[in-house]
Amino acid sequence: MTSKPIFIQHANQLITVSGGTERPLTKEKMNTLQIIEDGSIWLEDGLVKAVDETKELNRQFASRMNEAIILDAKGKIVLPGLIDPHTHIVYAGSRENEFNMRLNGATYMEIMNNGGGIHATTTKTRAASHNELLEESKKRLNSFLKHGVTTIEAKSGYGLDWETEKKQLEVAKQLNEEHVIDVVRTFMGAHAVPANYKENPDEFVRIVIDEMLPEVAKYNLAEFNDVFCERGVFTPEQSRRILEAGKNYGLIPKIHADEIEPYEGAELAAEVGAISADHLLRVSDQGIKKMADKGVIGVLLPGTAFFLMADSARGRKMIDEGVPVALSTDCNPGSSPTTSLPFIMNLACMKMGMTPAEAIVACTINAAHAINRGKEIGSLEVGKKADVVMMDVPNYMQLQYHYGMNHTDTVIKNGKIVIEGGQLCHIN
Ligand code: NIG
Ligand code: FE
Repeated sequence: MTSKPIFIQHANQLITVSGGTERPLTKEKMNTLQIIEDGSIWLEDGLVKAVDETKELNRQFASRMNEAIILDAKGKIVLPGLIDPHTHIVYAGSRENEFNMRLNGATYMEIMNNGGGIHATTTKTRAASHNELLEESKKRLNSFLKHGVTTIEAKSGYGLDWETEKKQLEVAKQLNEEHVIDVVRTFMGAHAVPANYKENPDEFVRIVIDEMLPEVAKYNLAEFNDVFCERGVFTPEQSRRILEAGKNYGLIPKIHADEIEPYEGAELAAEVGAISADHLLRVSDQGIKKMADKGVIGVLLPGTAFFLMADSARGRKMIDEGVPVALSTDCNPGSSPTTSLPFIMNLACMKMGMTPAEAIVACTINAAHAINRGKEIGSLEVGKKADVVMMDVPNYMQLQYHYGMNHTDTVIKNGKIVIEGGQLCHIN
């Protein structure tokens, strides 16, 4: 069934974020938004067919206006559907008890090393059925959609045994098929050393490499391979082995790097040719340089720093040094239980010195590149997917100025209206 074309007209600002399809935007290009005043866009067959000033498209499509759904964006802004390139949405349970412990002085790593943290969620996720995980995750996807997010990445990593890692990836696959949000999969078997391998972590690394990675590849369960490279979790040497092994199966490396302590994770990302290094709260100057040289995208997660009450990553410095920066919620039950990517943009401005323009680039075209989708999504250019969001603010700076609020008014995914007046519509 083909749906009607959609014509959005009279946007106060239509922000195309164009110019970054080939490679992510860096330095001053991150701060130079392409904006059409009184802008309009024609969407058809799930794709962007034309973008221009309203008077121009009114003329161009005059004879076809009666076939289209016409949306008036007067007083609002229109931008590409937001993209979250780093989430852990397929999990069971929640960890507000640990939040309370942290408010009373316990640290994230202490809780994890005492069997809580990732281990607590692993226990719950192992016990949950495929369908329970599917239903819980769908709720989170609906919440993402209400915040203007149209594509996400989702990691496994709450199984730490093959059966559960596989279950998580299969749930993510089904979410991609059944939910309007596109879900891109990452295998993260090396998210923590399971309790029964505490005395012999290298044996667990061997299992990830020799037993899990071949299965991921055989059943085409993921595109990316991620590892938590952190003191007390996986060493840079173990991380390197896991990421190199994944490459042999065509899995693109990603890495949780330098989150709690400087640990040369960013350097490793550059050396193994990772598509992104994520977190980077404690990245070294040398690591920043190496990432800039190799074009490794820095996926920054200021919500995680906020929720762990830690200092944020040096986003300003990374952009100034030429690292292509993207932003993400890190949505997970321990260090960042939010689906509000707009709030993450607010934090990027307030805690990392990024500008409102840079925050938009970081959640659209640069985020698309962080999941290898720069050619299909992330900007409103002819031929790209018709993933569009309308925010109820008169200019893009107000997205950050009216912070902590959800301004999402309308979301169009694959050329279909899925959020109207801030509410879900026409979705299963
Ligand atoms: O990206 N740092 C490691 N992994 C997640 C947190 C997972 C959890 O606490 O459940 C993160 O912050
Ligand atoms: Fe994460």
